[in-house]
Amino acid sequence: MVFLPLQSPVMQTDVAEILLSEKQIQARLDELAAAIQRDYAGKELTVVGILTGSVMFVADLLRRLPLPLRLDNIGVSSYSGATQPTGEFTITKALRLDVRDRDVLVIDDILDTGHTLIRIRAMITALQPRSLKTCVFLEKDVPHTGNTQADYVAFKIPNKFVVGYGLDYREHYRNLPYVGVLRPDIISAP
Ligand code: IMP
Ligand code: MG
Repeated sequence: MVFLPLQSPVMQTDVAEILLSEKQIQARLDELAAAIQRDYAGKELTVVGILTGSVMFVADLLRRLPLPLRLDNIGVSSYSGATQPTGEFTITKALRLDVRDRDVLVIDDILDTGHTLIRIRAMITALQPRSLKTCVFLEKDVPHTGNTQADYVAFKIPNKFVVGYGLDYREHYRNLPYVGVLRPDIISAP
C-alpha cells in the first residue's frame, strides 16, 4: 500500500488556484471562535457536525472554544461523486446525543444550494432544542433555496467548485490544508 504525504506533489499540481491559504483560514477561525464564545457565554453547547466535509473545520474551531460543549455528528450524503448536486439525500449516520432543550450549533462545510441546511435544521427543530444556530465554513455566492442563511460564516467564496480543508472531489483532496480550485481537466475527466 502506498501512503501519500499530506501535501503530496500530486495533489498540489492538481490545484489550479488557491482561494484560501492555510494562514488565512486559521486567522479567520480565531475571529469566528471569539464571536461564538461571546454569543454562548455561560451556556453549554451541543455541536452537531455534518459529515464528512466539516471534520477539519469542526476540529479546528472547537479547539478554539473554551466553552463546555458536547459533540455529535450527522452523516449526510447529498452528492454522488460529481460536482453538481444530485438531489439525493441520505442520512448515513444518525444523531446520538439528545438535543431537546439544548443550545445546538450545526456546523457544515459549505452552504451551496441550501438543501442540506434546510433538511438538517428541520430535522433538529422537530427534536425541540432550546436554540438552534448554524455555522458554515464557506458560503458560495449563489442564491440559496428559500434564501437560507447560516448564522456564522467563515468565508464567502465565488461560485466555483472548491476542494480542501474537508471538501472533496470524488472523496479526494479533503486533506489539503487550504481551499483551492482544481484544474479543469481533472474535473472533466470521466
Ligand atoms: P448544499 O447544496 O448547500 O446542500 O451543499 C451540499 C453539499 O455539497 C455540501 O455539504 C458539500 O459536501 C457539497 N458541496 C457543495 N459545493 C461544493 C464544492 O464546491 N466543493 C465540494 N463539495 C461541495
Ligand atoms: Mg461532499
